[in-house]
Amino acid sequence: MSAHRVASFTPLFDDATASAMVTLCERFGSYGMYSEEPTFEGLGQGLPARWDAVRNFLKTGGRLGRQESLETLAARTNYFRETYAYGAKPAIAGIEPFLFHEGFVEAARRLHGRPIVEPAIVFANLLVPGQELAIHTDVPEFRGVNRKRHPQWLIVVMRHSGLFEAWRMPIATAVAWFHDCSGGEFVFYPDGPQAPPVAHPVHYNTALLLDTDSVFHGVDRVASAQPIAPLRPGMRLGQAGDGRWEVRDGERVVASYGWPDLRFSISWKAYCFADEPERRAWAEHRDDLTVDAVVARLVEDLRARRIVGADVPAGNELVDLLIDTYVPYPGAAG
Ligand SMILES: [Fe+2]
Repeated sequence: MSAHRVASFTPLFDDATASAMVTLCERFGSYGMYSEEPTFEGLGQGLPARWDAVRNFLKTGGRLGRQESLETLAARTNYFRETYAYGAKPAIAGIEPFLFHEGFVEAARRLHGRPIVEPAIVFANLLVPGQELAIHTDVPEFRGVNRKRHPQWLIVVMRHSGLFEAWRMPIATAVAWFHDCSGGEFVFYPDGPQAPPVAHPVHYNTALLLDTDSVFHGVDRVASAQPIAPLRPGMRLGQAGDGRWEVRDGERVVASYGWPDLRFSISWKAYCFADEPERRAWAEHRDDLTVDAVVARLVEDLRARRIVGADVPAGNELVDLLIDTYVPYPGAAG
């Protein structure tokens, strides 16, 4: 038995609802690049939001230890993402069967043993041929710390440090696929980062639900006969009609693909509350952490573990020390 519980949905929907998800993806039309996430003020200012994952990917060359230029690695991992629902509010009509999927809600309850399940977000991920998603754990949530205002790498450090679990809000994540993708396996480490991973082939109208804030995961490279397109932040992937999709830099077409060549997944995340008072404490911001208190607590722990002495490194040096100390990235497979 795995250390982490994973629920599987095969199939996820009836045929009509599954094909409506593909139509919805086309109807949404245009997708921005995920790398356009904000950076943050304070500690680690100017670093990418997920500096922990970027740093690991650059250090290891990804799960399979490939060595490529920084530019190529960036093009491979800057995939396309848009939000289909925020909280229980659809951002596009037709997402409701996914947003309120009873099977997801039931599996989420079982995952964390918490009865109150509240959808947090639904988003689409699109990868083009040659793209992959670096191994990572998702950005978790803690009372008072917010991925839009605070460094995401720090929030990931908080989870793996185990020092702030009393403030953490357990989240269940489902990932569903609407492609029989060539390559693009969903790779995850259900038995922990030091045990062998599972490379799960992606099939049309299936889904997995797990705790992606705790289980390391990523996406293997989507099959490609060509070198990867010269993708840069700011580009968009859009519908071009007749089943074609184009990456555009403003008006300029950078690359063109058929729908079957892309990899399309939809993710669902939900908060899992133990009871109503806990849900209220979350909503009303009682008992919130502050980032200064978090960093002070982490530094105190580094001292207690004799990783630092009286002189504590500052700035980016402290950032890297925190990531390397607490986030147990799986090693490259060689
Ligand atoms: Fe993820």
